Amino acid sequence: MVNKDFLIKKPEELQTISSWLEEMLEHKTIVLLEGPLGVGKTALVKKIAAEQGFSENKVKSPTFSLINNYKTEKFNLSHIDLYRLDTHDQFLLEEIKELLELPNSIILIEWPEKMDLSILYLQAIQVINIKLSFQSKSFRKVSICVKNTANRKTV
Ligand SMILES: Nc1ncnc2c1ncn2[C@@H]1O[C@H](COP(=O)(O)OP(=O)(O)O)[C@@H](O)[C@H]1O
Ligand SMILES: [Mg+2]
Repeated sequence: MVNKDFLIKKPEELQTISSWLEEMLEHKTIVLLEGPLGVGKTALVKKIAAEQGFSENKVKSPTFSLINNYKTEKFNLSHIDLYRLDTHDQFLLEEIKELLELPNSIILIEWPEKMDLSILYLQAIQVINIKLSFQSKSFRKVSICVKNTANRKTV
């Protein structure tokens, strides 16, 4: 398990976090982004996609579409926002499971607490928890915890 905290003042500083995360990303990774509205979850996903060669302005918040998929050179990146969900959606969960089965899949989920996602953890190799919070008027905190699942083959 790897833990890392960042304190950031400006959105541009999210780049430090995305380049740190870049080292961690590998196939079958689920990234859970928790934190209040406007704290910077989508802004961080944009930086992560930018790290993979997608210009930030091409990455839109999937608030209405729920899922946006981006095929990058290295990964099949899926960005999911469960904010508008008010009940468990089995169909959506199946769709996420299928996306996770794609080669080199990275699934980024905003508002993961809106749905029981535990079945995905049985399938993933790595789960990255990211908690974002407002720290003071000018600072935001981003706490990251990287965990292997039982699917990780150790040598
Ligand atoms: N330090 C910071 N980190 C992240 N975003 C910031 C920061 N300071 C200001 N912002 C701005 O706050 C907004 C965060 O919005 P967004 O990423 O959509 O939030 P969320 O997806 O968490 O609801 C963006 O407009 C971003 O430019
Ligand atoms: Mg968002």
